This record gives sequence, C-alpha cells and structure tokens, in this order.
Amino acid sequence: MDLRHLKYFIAVVEEQSFTKASKRLFIAQPPLSRQIQSLEDELGLPLLERGSRPIQTTEAGQFFYQYAKRILSSMEQMVLMTKRVGQTAQTLKVGFVGSLLLGLLPQIIYEFRKLLPGINIELIEMGTLEQLEALKSGKIDVGFGRLKFSDPAITRILLRDEPLVLAVHEHDPRFMGFDGVYLSDIVDEALWCYPNTGQQTFANYIKNIFAEHGLNPKNIKYVSNIQLALGMVASGEGMSIVPQNSRAILMTNLKYLPILDAGVASPIFLSFRSGDDGEFIQLLLKTIEFIYQKIELNEQINLKSCSDS
Ligand code: BEZ
Repeated sequence: MDLRHLKYFIAVVEEQSFTKASKRLFIAQPPLSRQIQSLEDELGLPLLERGSRPIQTTEAGQFFYQYAKRILSSMEQMVLMTKRVGQTAQTLKVGFVGSLLLGLLPQIIYEFRKLLPGINIELIEMGTLEQLEALKSGKIDVGFGRLKFSDPAITRILLRDEPLVLAVHEHDPRFMGFDGVYLSDIVDEALWCYPNTGQQTFANYIKNIFAEHGLNPKNIKYVSNIQLALGMVASGEGMSIVPQNSRAILMTNLKYLPILDAGVASPIFLSFRSGDDGEFIQLLLKTIEFIYQKIELNEQINLKSCSDS
C-alpha cells in the first residue's frame, strides 16, 4: 500500500463514482478499479458496497477514508512546515559602506524584513572593494557600495547618484551667508577625508572629483571614518566633503552647504554574484523602488548591470 492508493480511494469515495474519480485523477477507469481492488485484497475486506449506485463505503471503508484524509493532510502540512523551517534557517548577508547607514539603508532593510519575516538578515560593514572579495567568497550575498569596479563575476546596479555636500563649522566666518560653495572656493582649505587606508577609497574619489574640475587640493588630511571627519570640523578644524545623507549627523556647531559645481555626487551601487539574481535580489530592488517612491526621489533603478569600469 502506498500514498497513491490513499489518493485513489479518497477520490472514489468523494466522487461516489469510478468514472468521475478517474477523470479527477487523470487516469483511465480500469487501472483505478484495479488499484482499489488491490487495496481491498491487501486489507482482506471490502471498502465499498458492491453494486451500490452512487458508490457507498462499507463501515471499514468509511473508517479507512477518514484515516486516509488525515494522513494526506498531515503530509501536506509536513511539506509546508518543512519549507517554512527551511526559510527561517535562511540568512541573507548584506555588506554595506558605513555612510549608507546614515541614509536610506535602515529604512530599506526594515521594509525588506517585513516582506520576508522568516529570513535572517546579517548586516556587515565593509568597504566597497572588500565587498567584491566577500561576494566571491560567499561571506556576503549582496553589497551596497559607493565605488565603481569591474568584474565579470559580480553584477553591479547603479541605484542613484547621491549629491555631495560640504560640512563646515556653523560659525566659520568664511561661509557666513553662503547658500552653497564651488570646489574652487575650498581647494586651498584643510579638507578631512576618509578612510586613511587603501587605494581605491572615498578619499581618493574626492581627490578625483577635484582633478576632474582641474583642481589640486593640497591640504588633505586623513581620518578613518566619516564621524571622525565631522567631529574635526565641529571642533573648528577644516571642512569635509560628505554624502548628502550624512546631514543626519547633527553635531553641535556643524552645518552643511550644497556644492554648486555640476555632478558632484557619489554613486550608490548594489552588487551581487552574477547569475545570483533570485527572489532576494528582486525583492530588495522592489523595496528600494518603494522607498524611493515614498520619499519622492525621482530615481529610476536601472535594472541592467553596469558594464563600465
Ligand atoms: C540610497 O540612499 O539611495 C540607498 C542607501 C542604501 C542602500 C540603497 C540605497
């Protein structure tokens, strides 16, 4: 006896007809009759009243029917529960650069968790290039970074270009009454950049922006992270170019000025292993679109991967 016998018997009882049951089961009637017969042979008693129209069960048949239903329903439950257990055991490891935590990343992760309550999300801070290696080794499944890189094993999607702003001391007399600054206004000033290690860093990105505008800042100072850079500025020492979302850091004596040169921005990329764009990535992109719409950011996520370097 196997599960097929139970399914066949349930269909015959519920349809009260071999003809209708065979249609429901998508099999011919003779094999169905043979299966029921072999079931009765194995049990050594009739389960159906012979010659009854519509078909009626014997007392043993009714008992067998109830039990068979319970077994099948337990089996369906077993499948569902196992899938759910599998889901809760799933973990999505997300690498991110620290400054993104000051902007939309927390909202995005919060909404994403609501969509997949069973999944465990691990957030790991790391630089963009570290993310490249971490994706390849499986240490993370998805990365949010700011720097461009090119590697065929990794797919990179540009989410948006976040404007950069200048953090200055609130009482700095040089910027009293300023609504914004040009890079040329600050090229000779002390500029705090971060991080202080690595080759392809946000600090170098800022230097390249000056270079693209034909400028060469000579007074760059380095610290390990954005909080230290802003702390230095709030202490009355120099200034710092930071992503606009950093305005969430409300240190006393700090103010942020727009940079007026065109295109002074920092890209935000989502990266994942090429070919690994399953359910999680699609849902993550949908969540990001939802947050952008909610805060009326007119960004259109370009779902095509970036091929430039
Ligand atoms: C954003 O600010 O656009 C952003 C931040 C983190 C992840 C994705 C998008």
